[in-house]
Amino acid sequence: MDAAPSKVADKAPEQELPLSYARSLSWISLVLVLLTNLCLSFIISNSARETLLTKQKEFGHLLVENLNNQIFRRFALPTILARGRIALRQPTQYEHLDRVVKSVIQGLPVARLRIYDFSYLVAYSTVVEDLGRAGLSSPKLEEILHGGEAYSTIVSSFPAWQAPFRLPLEPGTFLLRILAPLRGEPLPGQKDSPIMGALEVTQDITEDYERVLAFQGIIVVLCLLSSFILFSLLLVLIHRAEHVLSERMHKNMLLEKELHSNEKLASMGRVVASIAHEIRNPLGIIRSSAELLRKRSQQTDRCTERILGAIYDESVRLSQTVNDFLDYARPRKPRQDLVDLAVVLEQVLAFLESEFQQHALQVERTNPTEPLFVLGDKDLLYRALYNILVNGQQAMSGPGTFYITGSHRQVENQEQIILSIRDTGPGFDPANMEHLMDPFFTTKDGGTGLGLPIVNSIITSHGGQILLENAKQGGAVVSVILPKAPLSES
Ligand SMILES: Nc1ncnc2c1ncn2[C@@H]1O[C@H](COP(=O)(O)OP(=O)(O)O)[C@@H](O)[C@H]1O
Ligand SMILES: [Mg+2]
Repeated sequence: MDAAPSKVADKAPEQELPLSYARSLSWISLVLVLLTNLCLSFIISNSARETLLTKQKEFGHLLVENLNNQIFRRFALPTILARGRIALRQPTQYEHLDRVVKSVIQGLPVARLRIYDFSYLVAYSTVVEDLGRAGLSSPKLEEILHGGEAYSTIVSSFPAWQAPFRLPLEPGTFLLRILAPLRGEPLPGQKDSPIMGALEVTQDITEDYERVLAFQGIIVVLCLLSSFILFSLLLVLIHRAEHVLSERMHKNMLLEKELHSNEKLASMGRVVASIAHEIRNPLGIIRSSAELLRKRSQQTDRCTERILGAIYDESVRLSQTVNDFLDYARPRKPRQDLVDLAVVLEQVLAFLESEFQQHALQVERTNPTEPLFVLGDKDLLYRALYNILVNGQQAMSGPGTFYITGSHRQVENQEQIILSIRDTGPGFDPANMEHLMDPFFTTKDGGTGLGLPIVNSIITSHGGQILLENAKQGGAVVSVILPKAPLSES
């Protein structure tokens, strides 16, 4: 069957949602998370750099101490004892000192080592070109030569903040320079050790600095990555929430609309129903009086008889409309009896038999072996099936066949029975599909447009539903779907 659904869901346009504040909130949270992460990464990497520098400085000071010791014991003391005084201009003394210094710094990361004399000149250097030159040390030299504390500083060829952008760094870019007094051991009877000059040790820490920078980079990248993942998750969440909210709002809107129109219809229905109720009794009197007069007038003139006939026919039709309307407007609460729908169908078909014979209508039935038990109101179900069959008969308007099938099916833990009635008429007009259940919608001259609404209201009041479709082979199919009566009762 090519089903044409009778109810079409209309979609309202997307609306502005009150969730936009959540979007701005998530942007703010991204900025906050980013800033916090950046601060954290800055603190962590800074402390790593500080640790590295402290370690390098400690190492430098140990080296200076060792050099002081070695130079005094292996060079200064023996030279003074043998020659009376230290004179590094003499090549033998210079070479002696050079041997001592190189034996100490052998294999250590020392880029350069200088010794300054009291006239601020370079008296010894591992770089020969520096020898005898003045003004190579820092302004602290004077203080150190007069017993000041050892002093260390970092010397770089460009500002430290540029380092991450100038990777890889050239060797010698970052140097740690330690300037300390070159002391001997205290002479007998003296408390202070004599100062012989100033020792300047320069270490190349570029490689370590580069490692810290790489570590810093990894931390920053990881922080950014985690922030973006968090942010994307947040956005996905908000998007999903917006979607769900918009769907709910749309549903609520539809429900509200339906409620409003239902309320209006209900109050209108109540008014019209009471009018219809008032009309019914006088209408009955008019109909029976017209019938009486017609019987009497058969003996008098034919014209009066025709007029009375018209009054009678119209009052019958009018009372049918009023009754149908009252059935629709004041639906009865269905009883909950055990009813076999197949038996009800039999009774309707028996009632309509002579009518069907007149119009040369056949009925072909395929009922299941078991009965079609439902819990419901026999009279109401009778009225529903009657309406469906009369509609079919009117649609075929001449010879035709009803194909009636009863079946069972299981839908989500609910057993249902389906009674399908197909006729060989023209079928439903697809253009009218949406309005077939609307009260007073009719395509017939004498129709009330209340048949299908009554059927629908009876079936839904039984917890079922009615499907209107067109069959592939032509003709209309009306399917009544009802919950099957529980087994204990069947
Ligand atoms: N079996 C059918 N085949 C074709 N059209 C049908 C059939 N049953 C109902 N219809 C259409 O549905 C309309 C509404 O039916 P109904 O509510 O019973 O009112 P009425 O029979 O008074 O017109 C009919 O006017 C007709 O156009
Ligand atoms: Mg009808």
